[in-house]
Amino acid sequence: MAKKKTKFMCQNCGYESPKWMGRCPGCGEWNQMVEEVEIIGKGRKGSLSPSDEGRSKAEPINAIQTENEPRVETKLKEFNRVLGGGVIPGSLVLIGGDPGIGKSTLLLQVSSQLADTDKKVLYISGEESVKQTKLRAERLNVSSPSLYIYAETNLELIHQTISDLSPDFVVVDSIQTVYHPEITSAPGSVSQVRECTAELMKIAKTKGIAIFIVGHVTKEGAIAGPRLLEHMVDTVLYFEGERHHTYRILRAVKNRFGSTNEIGIFEMKEFGLDEVENPSEIFLEERSKGSSGSTVVASMEGTRPVLVEIQALISPTSYGNPRRMATGIDHNRVSLLMAVLEKRVGLLLQNQDAYLKVAGGVKLDEPAIDLAIAVSIASSFRDHPTRPADCIIGEVGLTGEVRRVSRIEQRVQEAAKLGFTRVLVPDKNIGGWKVPEGIELIGVATVEEALRQAFN
Ligand code: TYD
Ligand code: MG
Repeated sequence: MAKKKTKFMCQNCGYESPKWMGRCPGCGEWNQMVEEVEIIGKGRKGSLSPSDEGRSKAEPINAIQTENEPRVETKLKEFNRVLGGGVIPGSLVLIGGDPGIGKSTLLLQVSSQLADTDKKVLYISGEESVKQTKLRAERLNVSSPSLYIYAETNLELIHQTISDLSPDFVVVDSIQTVYHPEITSAPGSVSQVRECTAELMKIAKTKGIAIFIVGHVTKEGAIAGPRLLEHMVDTVLYFEGERHHTYRILRAVKNRFGSTNEIGIFEMKEFGLDEVENPSEIFLEERSKGSSGSTVVASMEGTRPVLVEIQALISPTSYGNPRRMATGIDHNRVSLLMAVLEKRVGLLLQNQDAYLKVAGGVKLDEPAIDLAIAVSIASSFRDHPTRPADCIIGEVGLTGEVRRVSRIEQRVQEAAKLGFTRVLVPDKNIGGWKVPEGIELIGVATVEEALRQAFN
């Protein structure tokens, strides 16, 4: 007979305690401790016994054979790229995102495309009935004889079905709805999520099935359930975007099989998600040329350069402390650049409110966008528009110097592709690479020089 043990677990961080507490000592959150029952001795039997079947052996590293990673590609190139070049059999991928952002839509599309490559795909929906999923599939114009839909939340039955059907790919939508029948706590609780993920991991690794799991996101933006979940899986992707915009960004935050700073850009259309092959175009689509406070920068997103508009609005503070607000960029960096402009260029910004925004809802966090931010701020402050065909690239140091950036050639090429004619770059970056035709390259050494060039 299995023994039961009750404990209290923080639903936010996974902290365990033998007694209930109002405030979690682990993360400081209130009212997050929930009673959960752990079953000892059952379900885990044999997991430590040496006679375990399918047990792996320690091998000398030179004796390990590696085949070329047999990645399976979908038709969505953006999706393949974020995964590092395609889906790896036997991997466990977690996709997180706000409700309604399009996770189920994306995975249903991916499932059907994988099914079209003669692979068997099992789509398990814990949130919608088989009929509802079918309706969605009809809307997405998805149908493939090797795509199976299964509405179930009991992990034991799911395991059984996977064994019977032996699919190549499995989608579990979502991890918060499935439950392990041997654990009495509610679906979505920390123990359930953890055990179910561990079980799915085992299935993925032993049977060589690639499993995608959908995870809901809490209001703070983390995948519900403890951080632990992210440690367990091979790849963590976030699907983000603003509800009011049709663009969606798929971002890798952890990837055991590829780079983590890749993004994939999609557009939600009436009949599903469509990939956006030229993101720079869409990010610059609504740019109003000739207004002050707007500049364009070529930022690297993973391995590809993307042109984005940086907007600034500087206006006198009406009362109290000046406000500094930034969307898509770190506001501390904005404060730092404003201090540099004040001290090194002599712009009187201390009584000014500053609002900064990266148009299109992308987040930028690389130093090469500094100079564009500084020029946007100065442009709005002086109410002097920059030239619409200028692209500005450079990192700014505390003494007001403009520092070298990486991959300058790719950035300038992207600017040339989209019809920009002049690019301001750090002067240390000049030379040693081919300047695309039709581009006037201007090297700048300081922020002051950059402002002079931008406004002449
Ligand atoms: P969904 O995939 O259900 O989101 P999630 O699984 O992340 O909760 O996406 C739902 C939203 O997408 C819904 O608001 C409607 C919209 N949508 C479209 O615009 N076009 C489509 O073809 C589909 C299927 C959904
Ligand atoms: Mg869904």
